[in-house]
Amino acid sequence: MAIRFEKVNFSYGAGTTLAQSILHDVTLEMPTGQVTAIVGQTGSGKSTLIQHINGLLKPTSGRVTIDNFELTHHTKEKELVKLRKSVGIAFQFPENQLFANTVLEDVMYAPVNFGATKSEAKLAAEHALTRTGVVRELWGKSPFELSGGQMRRVAMAGTLSSDPSVVVMDEPAAGLDPKGQGELLQLVLELKKLGKTIVIISHQMDHVIAVADHVVVMHEGRVVAQESPQILFNRDITWFKTMKLDLPKAGQLAEKLRDEGITLSRRPLTLNELADLINTEVSHE
Ligand SMILES: Nc1ncnc2c1ncn2[C@@H]1O[C@H](COP(=O)(O)OP(=O)(O)OP(=O)(O)O)[C@@H](O)[C@H]1O
Ligand SMILES: [Mg+2]
Repeated sequence: MAIRFEKVNFSYGAGTTLAQSILHDVTLEMPTGQVTAIVGQTGSGKSTLIQHINGLLKPTSGRVTIDNFELTHHTKEKELVKLRKSVGIAFQFPENQLFANTVLEDVMYAPVNFGATKSEAKLAAEHALTRTGVVRELWGKSPFELSGGQMRRVAMAGTLSSDPSVVVMDEPAAGLDPKGQGELLQLVLELKKLGKTIVIISHQMDHVIAVADHVVVMHEGRVVAQESPQILFNRDITWFKTMKLDLPKAGQLAEKLRDEGITLSRRPLTLNELADLINTEVSHE
């Protein structure tokens, strides 16, 4: 499903005296079947932006198209049912997403809501819980008894159980240990293989490098870059400072080398690439 934002402006509390203008003329594209990462400093509008993909928020002006669905200020709530079936969002704070008495019931909610029978929903939920690494012993527990990392996995399963074609993840690695983070990145790549269009918000540039085909950079509610990771992470270092954006680890190390007088022909994205560049470009005399 192709996702396109055209001149989207958004204010919380639009039309009231408390209106707060957050997104400014956002125009962007998230290619079908690819992984788009959204990055940018805290408060730059990332979570606000992605809530437009399933119509949880509607543009104050401008429009969002998701395949052949058009979302504008005028879209009615009942028209959104179809959109919500195709777009699953795993929210930034999973505790706000969970609600049922047990983990299994929570994850069954979306398929039931979209018309599956109880037994179909149970199968779908079990499949999603297995895929996100929630062990069977937890399925009967209350989601609120779980650790932060487990809640994150359950919420992710709840997003995947209705098999949406667009999967949006808002900082899905937050609260996961390094092993969990690795599994999450694997999951993103698996979902991509299944043909899904994926949008992932992250503050970890090494995660972006690991999964993203396309990166959108937000700064103070505006899109300031949308390009491949290769192009993005070779931008001038002063730009990253202005945008308050980190480089991936390999890029940070390359900058340290440069401070020591060792200049490489390009900024590496991964540690392997850094090692190759050092081997071929730095003299060993
Ligand atoms: N419900 C709301 N009502 C009013 N203002 C809000 C609301 N939610 C967010 N904001 C404001 O909108 C701006 C953008 O917030 P948003 O959560 O979209 O940023 P973000 O890029 O996701 O940040 P983070 O990286 O911290 O998650 C911030 O100034 C925030 O305070
Ligand atoms: Mg956010």
